[in-house]
Amino acid sequence: MPKDVIVACDFESKEKTLAFLDLFTDEKPFVKIGMELYYAEGPAIVRELKARGHKIFLDLKLHDIPNTVKKTMAVLSKLDVDIVNLHAAGTTAMMQAALEGLTRPDGTRPLLIAVTMLTSTDQAAMERDLLIKEPIAGVVLHYAETAKNAGLDGVVCSPLEARAVHARCGEGFLTVTPGVRFADAEKGDQKRVMTPADAGKAGSDYIVVGRPITAAPDPVAAYRRCVKEFIEA
Ligand code: C5P
Repeated sequence: MPKDVIVACDFESKEKTLAFLDLFTDEKPFVKIGMELYYAEGPAIVRELKARGHKIFLDLKLHDIPNTVKKTMAVLSKLDVDIVNLHAAGTTAMMQAALEGLTRPDGTRPLLIAVTMLTSTDQAAMERDLLIKEPIAGVVLHYAETAKNAGLDGVVCSPLEARAVHARCGEGFLTVTPGVRFADAEKGDQKRVMTPADAGKAGSDYIVVGRPITAAPDPVAAYRRCVKEFIEA
C-alpha cells in the first residue's frame, strides 16, 4: 500500500505555486490542486506541474448528473493526473459513470476517490439542511461503502475515521486524510486534527497537508518532518 504526504497547493496563482515548489530541490512532493488554483489557472497548471515531475491529486469534487460527470472525467483523465475525486452524494449511478469516463482506451485510469460528508458539515446541519437523521459517523461509513460498491478506490475522510473506513471497506480501500497538524502547532480553522504520526498509526494511506507546510518558515524542513513522522509511524 502506498503511503505518502500530499501537499495542498492552496495558492491563487501559478506564480505563487511555482515559487513555493521551487523551494524543493531534492524531492518532488505529491501535490494537490484544488478548486482555487484550478479555476484561476485552468488545465495548464496541471500540465505544468505534471511536466515538472509531480504526482497530482486533482481535488475538484465533481457532483452533477451522471452523463455530465462521465464526460468531464474523460477530459480530466487526459490530463494524466494520479487521483481525482467526486461527491459520493451524487449516488452510485454518478460514481459508476465517472469510472467509465475516467477509464482510458488502454484500460488505465487515475485513482478515483469520494468525498463522504464534508467535515464542515456537522450533525445539526446534516439533520436540519439535508434531512438525514442518522448519526454522522454511520453516514460517513455508508457513503464509503457505497463508493466501494460502485468500484471506487477510496475516500477522503478525517484521519479519525480512517480505521473505521478500513474496517468496513477493507485495508485496500484508500483513505486520503486532511486535518493534519504537528503536535506543537496551531490548529487554525481545522477542528478535528491528528498529527502525521497518529494519522499513520490510524491507517491513513495519504495525508493531505497544506498550511503546516506552505505557511511554515521553512517549508522544505516542514515537509521532511511530515514525511518522516508519517512514514515511520
Ligand atoms: O491547510 P490545511 O492543512 O488545513 O489544508 C487541508 C487541505 O485539505 C485543504 O486544501 C482543504 O480544502 C482540504 N480538505 C479539508 N477537509 C476536508 C476536505 C478537504 O481540509 N474534509
